[in-house]
Amino acid sequence: MDEKMFGVFLPIANGGWIISKNAPNLDGLYQTNRDAALIADKIGLDFIMSMAKWRGFGGETDHWRTSMESMTMMAGLAEVTEKVKVWATMHALLHNPAVVAKMVTTLDHISKGRAGLNIVAGAYREEFSQMGAWNDEETHEDRYQRTEEWITIIKRLWSEESVDFDGRFFKMEDCQSDPKPLSRPRPDLIAAGQSDRGFRFSTKHADACFIGGRTDDERRTHSRRAREIAAENGNEVKVCAMCTVVHDETDAKADALLQRFEDGKDMGAIMSQMKSWGMEPEKIAANAGKMSASQNHTVAGSPETCREKIEHYLDYCELDGVMLIFPDYVKGLEMFGAEILPSLRSRYSPPQAKSA
Ligand SMILES: Cc1cc2nc3c(=O)[nH]c(=O)nc-3n(C[C@H](O)[C@H](O)[C@H](O)COP(=O)(O)O)c2cc1C
Repeated sequence: MDEKMFGVFLPIANGGWIISKNAPNLDGLYQTNRDAALIADKIGLDFIMSMAKWRGFGGETDHWRTSMESMTMMAGLAEVTEKVKVWATMHALLHNPAVVAKMVTTLDHISKGRAGLNIVAGAYREEFSQMGAWNDEETHEDRYQRTEEWITIIKRLWSEESVDFDGRFFKMEDCQSDPKPLSRPRPDLIAAGQSDRGFRFSTKHADACFIGGRTDDERRTHSRRAREIAAENGNEVKVCAMCTVVHDETDAKADALLQRFEDGKDMGAIMSQMKSWGMEPEKIAANAGKMSASQNHTVAGSPETCREKIEHYLDYCELDGVMLIFPDYVKGLEMFGAEILPSLRSRYSPPQAKSA
């Protein structure tokens, strides 16, 4: 049986991933995330992950203005959950690797060996320039070189007594980090680049690579590209992607719900998000009409239809798993646990533990 993993992208910032004034008003606060995490743990999902976000996009919904900090939130969730893996996001641009090594180790001890780190280089200028942490001279390649050094140091601190490192971005001198993580061989590492440079990074340093894309064909291309680059380096990598699930009792009702979200899409926030991705004003104007309220791959329908569409998505985009998004996480996760996950588990086995 093929292995597949199913996890949830926690709503750590207000509005979640459906940018619409007609979508449920997710507040991005701890209790909302805790409710979702407890259900994810109860129904037997493989992981919960939260992003790291420092600035929102405005618009009528003030999308993502309110957010929790990822690592500290996941530490709280590690304490209240029992089985699910807890993956936090940290920016190489912001945090010294010795600090991150110890934070993830602490998360691993709190969770008794369930910690993971989503590695992000830091790409969105406004998030960092607001705090004086962005250098306009640095290129995408520079940021990946920093992140390479950063994760190399973190991995070494997790396994060595003392680390000396003389890099372009970081210097370590007899740097020590104890205790070591409980996870063997080390906590899970995840990365989500989309460029060839990003794939070179994730396939070299991470266990799983989260891909995006505007269409399923683009996602399939990214999925194949990630595996090709991994193979060129003699590696293997798990490839996962996001999936928004909009369900109701019938297909017609779910389609109507999705249309309602679309009718209320917050174009101000959507356009400001495109700007944050570094898109030029002409390109934003050209793409504005094509952007939907729910930007990720979305399956809508009755639970049975959603299950079929998720299986098709896994097959078509050649994925090892999906990270789920819901308009209402409590309703969505309860339904997923009762009506979709058992059937998916009968077709696919859960991911096996890594060997040391
Ligand atoms: C699932 C997923 C999660 C991501 N989480 C974050 C995040 O928490 N913070 C962040 O700054 N960027 C995040 N990103 C953006 C990526 O780190 C990366 O900057 C982006 O995909 C562009 O890829 P590139 O670096 O190869 O150009 C995420 C991307 C994806 C697909």
